[in-house]
Amino acid sequence: MIIAQISDTHIDLDGPNSAARLRNLEDCVVDINRLDPLPDVVIHTGDLSQNGKPAEYEAARRLLDALRCPLHVAAGNRDERAALRSAFPADDYLLPDTLFVQYRSDAFPVRLIAVDTLSESSNQGDFCQIRAENLRAALAEDTTKPTAIFMHHPPFEVRESKYPFQFEAWESVERMSRVLEGQRQVVAVFCGHTHRDAAGEIAGVPVSSMPSVAVDLRLGSYSDELQSVPLYKLHRLDAQQRFVSEIRAARQRQALPAGNAG
Ligand SMILES: [Fe+2]
Repeated sequence: MIIAQISDTHIDLDGPNSAARLRNLEDCVVDINRLDPLPDVVIHTGDLSQNGKPAEYEAARRLLDALRCPLHVAAGNRDERAALRSAFPADDYLLPDTLFVQYRSDAFPVRLIAVDTLSESSNQGDFCQIRAENLRAALAEDTTKPTAIFMHHPPFEVRESKYPFQFEAWESVERMSRVLEGQRQVVAVFCGHTHRDAAGEIAGVPVSSMPSVAVDLRLGSYSDELQSVPLYKLHRLDAQQRFVSEIRAARQRQALPAGNAG
């Protein structure tokens, strides 16, 4: 099982970085399509758009439609749930009658569950009782198949960050931790939001976040040759049912002969 993860594309059709961000996403799509073997699935861990506008989702979707493998998206704090859901409809939302973007997919060797950490009142994460019960029910459906959760806000302290704590309240993280406690089938939690590579754990499950695909918003230090190259992550399941992750550079612009780039 190979998962390609992209995150924090912040598609913005009006800002000064509009064209660059579309190009950053397109470069990742092209690079993922070149992988051999192809990933089983691509996950986007939120902040797909900058302003939650339908046109931003449409622009992103036009690029993402070129992917040669299935795509699942999670909602970030910049996303607007209704616009996200109408641009990227999922067949089997766990909560068809609510606004939360939580769902699972059983189509792959590893079960995928999208968790909604979007807050109504801030950019930080939230995880309420409704979402907790929904996640608990989703996990109970299959307690033996390896399962990966993907969501926007990482539920661990990111020490390098100016804002180390990514949720509004520890209560939310404790609630999530109680849901995951003892769920031995959960092998990984993949997150975005930090715009940098970071790792932690929740209830004994390894959690990671990743650099933003939007290069202008990326945090952390990178070698000179990567300054303008968008990055994404590949997660490969090993024989011990653990994901081994690597950061990949989407270098397609650099690979083009002079005169063709742009
Ligand atoms: Fe973001």
